[in-house]
Parts: sequence; C-alpha cells; structure tokens
Amino acid sequence: MAGRAGGGAPRRGRSLQRVTDRVPDEIEKVLISSEEIQGKVAEMAAAIDADYAGREVLLVGVLKGAVMIMADLARALTIPVSMEFMAVSSYGSSTSSSGVVRILKDLDREVADRHVLVVEDVIDSGLTLSWLLRNMKSRGPASVEVCALLRKPEAAKVDLPVRYVGFDIPSEFVVGYGLDYAERYRELPFVGLLKPEVYAT
Ligand code: IMP
Ligand code: MG
Repeated sequence: MAGRAGGGAPRRGRSLQRVTDRVPDEIEKVLISSEEIQGKVAEMAAAIDADYAGREVLLVGVLKGAVMIMADLARALTIPVSMEFMAVSSYGSSTSSSGVVRILKDLDREVADRHVLVVEDVIDSGLTLSWLLRNMKSRGPASVEVCALLRKPEAAKVDLPVRYVGFDIPSEFVVGYGLDYAERYRELPFVGLLKPEVYAT
C-alpha cells in the first residue's frame, strides 16, 4: 500500500472526514451529520477532560455499537485513558430489550479502584445499561459514569444517571456511527433513518 504521509493532493472521496457525507440510497434522512457528531464528541471530551483532570479514566465500550464513539472520544481526550470492551446480549426480541443480559465478552482486567466511564452508542429503554451499571458497581470501581452518544428520552423505562449525553433523539430506529440494522450500516459516519422498504426486504 502506498503511503501518502505529507504532500500530494488527497484522493477524492477517501478522506476520513468528508466535508459532505456520502449518503447511500437506503438512507431516508440524515439525522445527525458527521460534522455535528465530531463537534459534539469534542464538546463531551472537553467536559470529561475537565471533570477527570489529574486522574486516569478507564473507558469501557459496549460492543459493537460503541466502537465509533470509543475511537473518536478516546482520541479527543487529553487525559490519560485506557480502554476495555464488553459485549453483552439482551434477551428479548430483536428490536426491544428485556433487561435480562448475558455477557458475551467480559472485561480483560479488573476495574477495582479505577474511574470507569461506560461508553454507549445509544440508550433506548435503558434496561441494558441499568444492568451494566449494577454489574460494574459490584466490581468495586472508584467511580462509574456513563457517556452516550444518543439517548431516546421517550423510550426510557428506567431513570438512569447519564453524565454525558451527545444528542437526545426521538424514539425512532436509527443507523450509522456504530449503530446497525441486521449488522449493516455501522460504518456510516453519520446517524440516519433507513427507508421503510429496507426493513421490508
Ligand atoms: P436498551 O436496553 O433498550 O437501552 O437497548 C440498548 C441497545 O439496543 C443499544 O445498545 C443498541 O445496541 C440497541 N438499539 C437501541 N436503539 C437502537 C437504534 O435506534 N438503532 C440500532 N440499535 C439500537
Ligand atoms: Mg449497544
């Protein structure tokens, strides 16, 4: 692969941060552009930097949806961070969670006495996160807070203390920036709504 460090015109359509999002046909509407997301991530990182000044934070990302926000948030922070990932599966239908959670992949290291910041893509009913917070607290960390890119206030079934929220959105199914429909569309740099016919196929 040819390296392009420094010099040379960028290849068209291949820069990591596009000025205008390329929107696939299956997308009905862009709800939050990549520019808006990046601006918000920078804002949240500044708040976290200030709140955790002088401390190290352990970012715990919930796979797979949180990969994009984890990667961008970690790079925007200036405080020292380490990263862990957990994968959980919620029993229930494919579109709504029950709050009964199974651990598919646990943390690799202990979190005792560490400052844990759980990083989530979206808080829908809040049931998964509610379980996760109880689980995390039982491990004896110094503190536990939550950072979520998206929250759907109308869908909330439990009241959760979420310290950092990117955007409150209506209770609609969204894809992109980590969020999937049937494992697709996670790679989109923006958050959007799918056309209804995509669900029908
Ligand atoms: P909760 O337990 O109802 O809060 O469900 C949270 C999980 O459901 C998220 O971490 C996502 O994996 C998934 N989810 C909720 N809403 C959406 C959505 O709009 N698009 C894609 N996945 C979603
Ligand atoms: Mg998730």
